[in-house]
Amino acid sequence: MKLLEGKVVIVTGAGGGIGRDFALAMAERGAKVVVNDLGASVSGEGKDAGPAQKVADEIEAKGGTAVANTDSVADWEAANRIVKTAIDAFGRIDCVVNNAGILRDRFFFNMSIEEWKAVIDVHLNGSFYVARAAAPYFKSQNSGSYVNMTSTSGLIGNFGQANYAAAKLGIVGLSKSMALDMAKYHVRSNCIAPFAWSRMIGTIPAETPDQKARVEKLKSMETSKIAPLAVYLASDLAEGVTGQIFGVRANEIFLFSQNRPLRSVHRAGGWTPEAIAEQAMPAMRAQFYALDRSQDVFSWDPI
Ligand code: NAI
Repeated sequence: MKLLEGKVVIVTGAGGGIGRDFALAMAERGAKVVVNDLGASVSGEGKDAGPAQKVADEIEAKGGTAVANTDSVADWEAANRIVKTAIDAFGRIDCVVNNAGILRDRFFFNMSIEEWKAVIDVHLNGSFYVARAAAPYFKSQNSGSYVNMTSTSGLIGNFGQANYAAAKLGIVGLSKSMALDMAKYHVRSNCIAPFAWSRMIGTIPAETPDQKARVEKLKSMETSKIAPLAVYLASDLAEGVTGQIFGVRANEIFLFSQNRPLRSVHRAGGWTPEAIAEQAMPAMRAQFYALDRSQDVFSWDPI
């Protein structure tokens, strides 16, 4: 029996990039797949039914089962239609992969309200909407798995991505909350921070020799390398694995830390601003984090 036999999986943003590979891999392991994709540009403009249908056709051509859906995750009614597509076509829903995404990069001091809202809408609100629409089914069947795509832009940091970083770190909080609130219904929720060469990463400017060399390295990270972890998390093999943040980069898999107090200082008489400057900060400074970006922390080449 195939690993995902009998399971129904929704993959949002599955018309290309990482999501397409998720959909193909889920189907190959026996899942019936709802291939959702609005068919938008990297910045979220436009709509094209083509990409989702093409991936669904590809799955069917290989003997799998899939339906295409072109609703936007960034709208509550539309997100409900995505889940309804799974129920109407296949009668159930076992896994939601919140993968759809856009970028509107701009330095914080120049970022417009529209750029902020568009990115928060697709990533953070979209993940909530689709997950929330599936929740009653997960609850009543006493099982289910959420796989939420986050990013080291949020977990660590990056230039020019205040909207994206805030949304992606928001997704981490959302995922943990879903894991907590739905644990009693045996529903799991985890995050994946992927590293992969996709059209989204293709928008990174590469002008200097340094930037060009970096982009060449990024090209060695295939989108298909992320899929095995998503398939695992959708499967019953992942029983008990919930509330975690994983990363995948080519052949490496990472488990990320989560926030806990690093150091505590206590002063019997309470603190004044001056005492904080004289005692608390010097005591804690050794454990301050540098103003790192993702590439400072992931400083070695993909393996
Ligand atoms: P991509 O741009 O190739 O794929 C995103 C897909 O989402 C596109 O096909 C697009 O049409 C679709 N989409 C956009 N807005 C939508 C909406 N409102 N409703 C439904 N579909 C919509 O990008 P990629 O790289 O495959 O990204 C997949 C996920 O992984 C995203 O959540 C992204 O933020 C995340 N990610 C990717 C990284 C990478 O290295 N490629 C790094 C960190 C995170």
